[in-house]
Amino acid sequence: MKFFIDTANLADIREAQDMGILDGVTTNPSLMAKEGITGKDNIMSHYKQICEIVEGDVSAEVISTTFDEMIREGEELAELNENIVVKVPMIKDGVKAIKYFTEKGIRTNCTLIFSAGQALLAAKAGATYVSPFVGRLDDISTDGMALIEQIVTIFTNYGYTTEVLAASVRHPMHIIQCAELGADVMTAPLSVIKALLNHPLTDSGLAKFLADHQKAGVPAK
Ligand code: E4P
Repeated sequence: MKFFIDTANLADIREAQDMGILDGVTTNPSLMAKEGITGKDNIMSHYKQICEIVEGDVSAEVISTTFDEMIREGEELAELNENIVVKVPMIKDGVKAIKYFTEKGIRTNCTLIFSAGQALLAAKAGATYVSPFVGRLDDISTDGMALIEQIVTIFTNYGYTTEVLAASVRHPMHIIQCAELGADVMTAPLSVIKALLNHPLTDSGLAKFLADHQKAGVPAK
């Protein structure tokens, strides 16, 4: 399963890249705003900086909601770097835009997926990725993981090459469940990715190894 980081924070992206486990980045307008990135020039320059840090796909979301505007915006984003994936919302014009981008060889990530039917439409239009938001479904007492399972089954049934990118991942068990269900990619904040490192038996085991090593009289490094 590929690991993407869900942020526009350059320090977090660098840290994940430095760990050696990062396969890509997803951003959205809220994440860009959180970093104080506003204005077209700053936004474009920020995407370029992200692409310089990461050797992998970087999802950059269009702000427009009409076909013509999404095409104009998406083509500009795609020109920034070959790793840019144009993120398009799951609306009717978005589906049409995904079809257009696919025919032009521009890769897409269909975002705001909350049902299997939406994922199926995006796959039929040729989306590179679909992004089901598991955490936001859990937030409204709906099983986000059940949606991942449903989409993986449907794409397998018909051999769609569209990748299932589990988004809105909120805690380490979401990551484990995504891996069990066969999601192609998951995207999560750095804190959630790093939470996978933790286990109390690792901490106590390491402390004992180091203490025993010292007791044996060999100086610890
Ligand atoms: C996905 O691409 C979205 O940017 C993101 O995962 C949404 O997560 P949230 O529901 O925690 O805002």
